[in-house]
Amino acid sequence: MKRNRTKKIITFLVISFILIISIKAYGQIKIKVLLPREWRSYTHVKSMVIPDRNHELYGFHHIYVNNKGLKALLSKDEFPQRTIFVAVFYDVEIGKDGSLNQGKKLYYLLMIKDARAEETGGWIYAFFDRDGKYIEKDVEKECYDCHLSAKDSDYVFSKFIK
Ligand code: HEC
Repeated sequence: MKRNRTKKIITFLVISFILIISIKAYGQIKIKVLLPREWRSYTHVKSMVIPDRNHELYGFHHIYVNNKGLKALLSKDEFPQRTIFVAVFYDVEIGKDGSLNQGKKLYYLLMIKDARAEETGGWIYAFFDRDGKYIEKDVEKECYDCHLSAKDSDYVFSKFIK
């Protein structure tokens, strides 16, 4: 009898151990996402241009938000889960008349509000090349660290410009 109980306890402990290890490993899986195909029909929030090629954020940026995020952005409420921001970057072409023109597309940046992304403030960050192909990045260092300076507005820099 006693032996049987010990066996059961050991089996229980082994199973719990395996479960804990697999849950931990799952938590470390990088969340891979796709660029939402309908990004261009999201609401345009604002634009910015940084013509200095040496600047980290060089280019024309147009920022879009999905409907879920738009409501919160306008009412300054908390962003709901699955809020999506897309920032699209384009080359800057300087015309002979001094005009700054939008050139070819460079890349896309994406943020999705998702509670699973605990290490990056509750937002999934992702980078896509100009063809919309997912490119892996160390998002904690290459995105989140800079977005930390917008912590007071839930890591989002853009304000809606009417
Ligand atoms: C050097 C600082 C910096 C880094 C690094 C950075 N961002 Fe940003 N990000 C900004 C700023 C500033 C804006 C607002 C730009 C504008 O208004 O055009 C912004 C805007 C955005 C937006 C639109 C929503 C918002 O916060 O306004 C998304 C999406 C975004 N970034 C994703 C990313 C991703 C993904 C990465 C990493 C691959 C990244 N960013 C790296 C500073 C940074």
